[in-house]
Amino acid sequence: MTDLLWQKSGVATDARIMRFLAGDDVVLDRELFLYDIEASAAHVGGLANIGIVSEDEARAIRRELASLADDFRSGAFVLDERFEDGHSAIEARLTERLGDSGRRVHTGRSRNDQVLVASRLWLKARLRELADVARSVAEVCLARAEVEALPMPGYTHVQRAVVSSTAMWFAGFAESFIDNAQRADQTLALVDANPLGTAAGYGVNLPLDRDHTTRALGFGRMQVSPIYAQLSRGKFEIAALDALGAAVLDLRRIAWDLSLFTTAEFGFVTLPAEFTTGSSIMPNKRNPDVVELMRASYAPVAAARTEIEQLLSLPSGYQRDLQLSKGSIFHGFRHGLDALALLPDLLARLQWNETAMRAAIEPSMYATDVAIEAAVAGVPFRDAYRAAADSASEAGQGRTPETSLAARTSPGAAGDLRLDVLRERLRALD
Ligand code: ARG
Repeated sequence: MTDLLWQKSGVATDARIMRFLAGDDVVLDRELFLYDIEASAAHVGGLANIGIVSEDEARAIRRELASLADDFRSGAFVLDERFEDGHSAIEARLTERLGDSGRRVHTGRSRNDQVLVASRLWLKARLRELADVARSVAEVCLARAEVEALPMPGYTHVQRAVVSSTAMWFAGFAESFIDNAQRADQTLALVDANPLGTAAGYGVNLPLDRDHTTRALGFGRMQVSPIYAQLSRGKFEIAALDALGAAVLDLRRIAWDLSLFTTAEFGFVTLPAEFTTGSSIMPNKRNPDVVELMRASYAPVAAARTEIEQLLSLPSGYQRDLQLSKGSIFHGFRHGLDALALLPDLLARLQWNETAMRAAIEPSMYATDVAIEAAVAGVPFRDAYRAAADSASEAGQGRTPETSLAARTSPGAAGDLRLDVLRERLRALD
């Protein structure tokens, strides 16, 4: 391993203990490495502004940081166990190539604010992806709701309840994913605060140019309290996982519906062939594995949230426990975003089987319409309800799915899909 940043003369290290301290930290730091480099460049710019490094040194350091980023992207530089962590690797490279200039870089910063700033930059990028994919899902759902309204049963308790339509199904998920996109944007705004310059959690005796680093890194604001900068670690990751979880919960509902709808018993939907797999033993099978893994993706998101929450039972100030939050957040976001990324294509290409859906609509599903019509004609609703219950099997007489849907979802009715309202909300999110 390269020299430890914190190594002092006369303090021994033990290889076993060093391995325990490091865990898989340096490998996890690969996720943060480019953000750490970006933040290091901004920090150096700030140091130049207050005369800690000269403009020439700052230029040389930034050039070296850019070349380290290139080497990392190309694979010429591998971040591995030679280094205690990503932060040490950056300083080691700068020191090796630039000598004293490299040794000045850590003036006024701590790995504590370094990991915070890199984590926030990483999460901002992920929340942008979340907002984008949520918008795409909403767009596909809305577009499909706008063009076609095939009748299908609407269920409560997984029992046939009333006549519904593919447009109602899609419109429901369009609105939920508009909410999910909005929540991702709001969470992004919460995470969008610069902790760099808060050092180990208590500030430093230097006029660090925090405005410069805030601007250079594209943060919307500065985190002002050094103590809160540390207290917020874990908390902002949980907020991000909650935003992700909201979308993945809806994804789980969609996946559940589709896994039911593709069974021979329902037969409502055909999934795009690429979204199904075969069985190694049963030649007749096409299995909806993709949809099932999408459904499963909520588990790692929820697990990540729980793991971080458990870590946060801490006094204020930096504690090494917090290091474990990185693995959780990467794991949760990888599973959640990977699953969501496939959803727009899946929804755009699924095919409804109109015949099977119409065949599943039975006469009793008009009973609620019948009771409400009688109530409109003046019969007290409870009496109309009982009469309709007694004759539920005849409720379909003279009715079609279309007339039922038109009465409930046309303009002015309570079930009016108001796709125009959803379209406007979606437009406003762009
Ligand atoms: N790997 C550490 C983490 O993720 C970096 C910060 C180390 N700071 C310290 N004081 N040991 O938390």
